[in-house]
Amino acid sequence: MSKIYHPQKKMFKEPLIKNMCEYTELVEKFEEDYEGTWACFADEKIDWFKPYDKILDESDAPFYKWFDGGELNVAHQCIDRHLETKKNKAAIIFEGDNGDQRILTYRELYYEVNKTANMFKNKFGVKKGDRVVIYMPMIPEAAVAMLACARIGAIHSIVFGGFSADALRDRIIDAEAKLVVTADGAYRKGKPYMLKPVVDKALEEGCECVEKVCIVERNGEDIEWVAGRDYSFEELVKNESSKCDAEPVDSEHPLFLLYTSGSTGKPKGVQHSSAGYILWAQMTMEWTFDIKDNDTFWCTADIGWITGHTYIIYGPLAAGATTVMFEGVPTFPDAGRCWKMVEEYRINQFYTAPTAIRLLHKTGADEPAKYDLSSLRILGTVGEPIDPEAWSWYYNEVGSGQCSIVDTWWQTETGGHMITPLPAATPIKPACATFPLPGIKAEVIEADGTPTEAGEKGYLCITKPWPSMIRTIWGDKERFKKSYFGDCKKDGKPVYFSGDGAMKDEEGYITITGRTDDVINVSGHRMGTAEVEAAVKNHDHVAEVAVVGKPHDIKGEGIFAYVVLKSVPVEEKDVVADEMELIKEINGVIKNEIGAIALCDDIAFVPGLPKTRSGKIMRRILRSLAKGEEVKQDTSTLEDPSIVGKIKEILDA
Ligand code: PRX
Repeated sequence: MSKIYHPQKKMFKEPLIKNMCEYTELVEKFEEDYEGTWACFADEKIDWFKPYDKILDESDAPFYKWFDGGELNVAHQCIDRHLETKKNKAAIIFEGDNGDQRILTYRELYYEVNKTANMFKNKFGVKKGDRVVIYMPMIPEAAVAMLACARIGAIHSIVFGGFSADALRDRIIDAEAKLVVTADGAYRKGKPYMLKPVVDKALEEGCECVEKVCIVERNGEDIEWVAGRDYSFEELVKNESSKCDAEPVDSEHPLFLLYTSGSTGKPKGVQHSSAGYILWAQMTMEWTFDIKDNDTFWCTADIGWITGHTYIIYGPLAAGATTVMFEGVPTFPDAGRCWKMVEEYRINQFYTAPTAIRLLHKTGADEPAKYDLSSLRILGTVGEPIDPEAWSWYYNEVGSGQCSIVDTWWQTETGGHMITPLPAATPIKPACATFPLPGIKAEVIEADGTPTEAGEKGYLCITKPWPSMIRTIWGDKERFKKSYFGDCKKDGKPVYFSGDGAMKDEEGYITITGRTDDVINVSGHRMGTAEVEAAVKNHDHVAEVAVVGKPHDIKGEGIFAYVVLKSVPVEEKDVVADEMELIKEINGVIKNEIGAIALCDDIAFVPGLPKTRSGKIMRRILRSLAKGEEVKQDTSTLEDPSIVGKIKEILDA
């Protein structure tokens, strides 16, 4: 049985949920009156422009509507309403890769966002409902651009700066974006890198929807300017008025799209709402991170992922907190960078991914001891399972055995935390997400809704709609229904299935056991195997490919590709590169099509793939082989059972 760690009460002054009795009371309150309890929070937290008519509309399930008829503005919720009490408080503290700093108070953020919103409207003709793609580094202008969209009711779609031109183009086209906001580039590990050339390449074909590109100067490197299309952010914004009324939008108005991987090759544009999303971003900020007025909160994610959306920008600002934005990487100039920043900014809550914890543990185990980390109260993790070794280092060396660790389970689709310890209340078991937050009906069930026995694996489902849930997949309602509401039912009704497996123990603690679909988790980033396979197939010599995940010391999972080459006519043999060259070329194709985040750690050239007679690739066999495990699966149903031995020989060699 795992050891239980009890929260250190002295670390918490007035937490919103003080102990497990209060947690249970709140859970019961939701059970007794689900909608009414949500309404209490919505009334208390949101500064409504117009009250809503209905709390939850289930008439077109699973296209649920929350707080329908209400009007609000998310930028107003995150900025304007704080001006009376916090105008001079730091909203965003920015630290660049090279150590440069910039602080935006709520008042300054208000003016910047207003000016940018006016520029979007007046210079680029952006209107309510238009899509704006943001392809930017981690600089304050990225936050300003997001909030400026929210202010005028435009829908932003942030594309992570590590994605390639092809990946960016697909997302621009799918969202039919009118404007792209980018930067010349930024800095990483002391050196400039470029983004604008990637935008230029993406826009070379098929992006007729894009009318203008707005470019922030960050690294000052030379870039190409396309006349009539490309405009300097700084040049235009300086002449705009700093007054811009916040556009009232409906509760269900889409706040943003964020593309994520699924089990097919095409990424899904996850669509989030305005009211439900911001309500939960703010509530989880208060519950999970116990955010207090004088706290400084640092989430190390990139704004290109959901963690950056909810816990760098929307959650902290809605809660009126000070949020840190960091352009660099945790290991530059050395593995003490994060701890140096924690000391310098007196960070109270530090939120990162297990990949970063493993990396910092492996490359700088003694670094935390060199800094004063006594300001820390809460340490968070997200994105992938954390192993007990990394957990223990984080708890003991970073947190000095005093801080609560919140292992937060959630997804792009859930908008905010779903299952997580409450820092002052929940007795923690290491590497366990513990209990669902009040209001979240997360259950481990069989496909028909039967709860699994304690200790048995089951499907992790959310069996009641919740305010911050995904509303649809942009432009593909059928795929939305099929992807999330097609697999599991409860009481005969389709319920949201997360794609993850989980296990509940006798005491009700939930541990996530990992994806049940063909999605792998590389450094906390979701990667569809089908997406990587589609890219690899674009290499001229590849006939077939199957991609699986393989455990990796730092990244959690690495990408392993089994490649079957086309038979090459004898006369062309010498033009076929040797294996090392081919591996480089295949990874080159992946880099072009997706980006460096999807590079394969291993590529094995094999004579065939283990397929059933109906042609289905038995990935479980490939996963066992990649791990070097004995293949326990029944191979007799394979079209060619001997292929397993042949692949094993190649891998052993
Ligand atoms: O498999 C789960 C894993 O990350 C997936 C969601 O990925 P994404 O939408 O990119 O969002 C990541 C950040 C919220 C989940 O389906 N995951 C997320 N948090 C945890 C986790 N696995 C284990 N433990 C977690 N705490």
